[in-house]
Amino acid sequence: MHNHTSFLHKRCFSKWAIIAVSVICSLIVLSIHQETEQPKISTTKEIRKFAFMKNHKCASTTIENIIFRFAHKNKLNVVLPKSGNYLSTTELFDHTSLNSTHWRNVNFDIFSLHNRWNKKEVVTLLREHVLAFTIVRDPVQVFESMFHFLDPMFGQFYGAKNIHEMIRIINTSSSTNPTLSKRWMGMMGRNQMAWDMGLSPDIFDDEVIFKKEIERLDREFDLVMVADRMEESLVLLKNLLNWPMQNVVHLNLNRRKPEKMSLLNADERKVLSDWLAADLQIFEHFSRRFDERVVEFNQKHLTMSTFLGGLFWSVNRMKHEKKLLEEANKQLYYACVLQELGNEKLTGVFREFNNNIMGFVIDTKQDWCAFYAMSEPAYLKIFQDLLLSRSINA
Ligand SMILES: *[C@@H]1O[C@H](CO)[C@@H](O)[C@H](O)[C@H]1NC(C)=O
Ligand SMILES: *[C@@H]1O[C@H](CO)[C@@H](O)[C@H](O)[C@H]1NC(C)=O
Repeated sequence: MHNHTSFLHKRCFSKWAIIAVSVICSLIVLSIHQETEQPKISTTKEIRKFAFMKNHKCASTTIENIIFRFAHKNKLNVVLPKSGNYLSTTELFDHTSLNSTHWRNVNFDIFSLHNRWNKKEVVTLLREHVLAFTIVRDPVQVFESMFHFLDPMFGQFYGAKNIHEMIRIINTSSSTNPTLSKRWMGMMGRNQMAWDMGLSPDIFDDEVIFKKEIERLDREFDLVMVADRMEESLVLLKNLLNWPMQNVVHLNLNRRKPEKMSLLNADERKVLSDWLAADLQIFEHFSRRFDERVVEFNQKHLTMSTFLGGLFWSVNRMKHEKKLLEEANKQLYYACVLQELGNEKLTGVFREFNNNIMGFVIDTKQDWCAFYAMSEPAYLKIFQDLLLSRSINA
């Protein structure tokens, strides 16, 4: 008898378990079905007019390539200086700097080259209030990257043989050595992100005023991405611009050669992060904001399947889309990349100016592949020709 009831209990329990599992499964199937059956009809079209603030050494070349491919495909007008790839170097961006170009009267769509950020002037040039976004990175990594990218000129400028010596110089004389507050070429040096984002070195050591400026930047940018969270950043970007995922599939461009990197010990990192306190303040502020954006994104896209997925397998919409993007990037790599080589070994449209970086040998049998690894100068030539043809017709 005892045996019999426990047998019944077991049967009942397993029956309920089966029912529960089938209900959950059907809910999942149903919700996945619904999501695929009725793709959300986007009421707003993909955004084609925007500003990207290209911070140095923040994976911004990869973002720029994504933007360039989009601009090229849609024949959009990219803001270009008269020559070169900088819209401003030592001064804040000023739209009248385009006065001397043939394309000064063209109706521009995209602002995306290196400059010192000045939103008011960008808005004036683009003739309307556009979405703006940028990217930040751990300032110790930014500095380490910049030091090697500009090797050997940057170190020589500060009288340091290598980055370890540079850090010793900073450690012993940061407050007394006037050279340390100078910038190589008038533009590269301490707190590079703050400099690029238009903040004056005069306020680098004034935490209170600096905080106000960060809050202003926070209002000026609709999205600030984080370089070490590239895939998540691009998921948020495509969401902001109403773009399909395929637009943000990419190769990692401008990667330094392995020998152009140095491991810093904890002590050295501490010296740098103290010296780069202003950039650290920027990085920490926007990293927090980024976390909030990811939470918002997951809440906004909470569906039955992501809800259940989160409940049972701790997945969410962001993790899901991040994985899709990583997969797509891998497929792009397999389809297009034959080899990775030092930049000096590359030719034609694939060669950048700087030989401290690696580049890609691309399978040219697939003609669409080239655009994923095309250099900045090669793109700028295409955009310049387009601007010239439009300024003649304007
Ligand atoms: C550019 O042109 C504007 C209007 O014609 C003028 O006010 C401004 O001074 C010029 N700026 C430069 C840098 O030439
Ligand atoms: C920085 O200076 C302090 C005090 O002089 C010293 O203890 C420390 O080891 C130095 N750190 C580095 C990375 O040189």
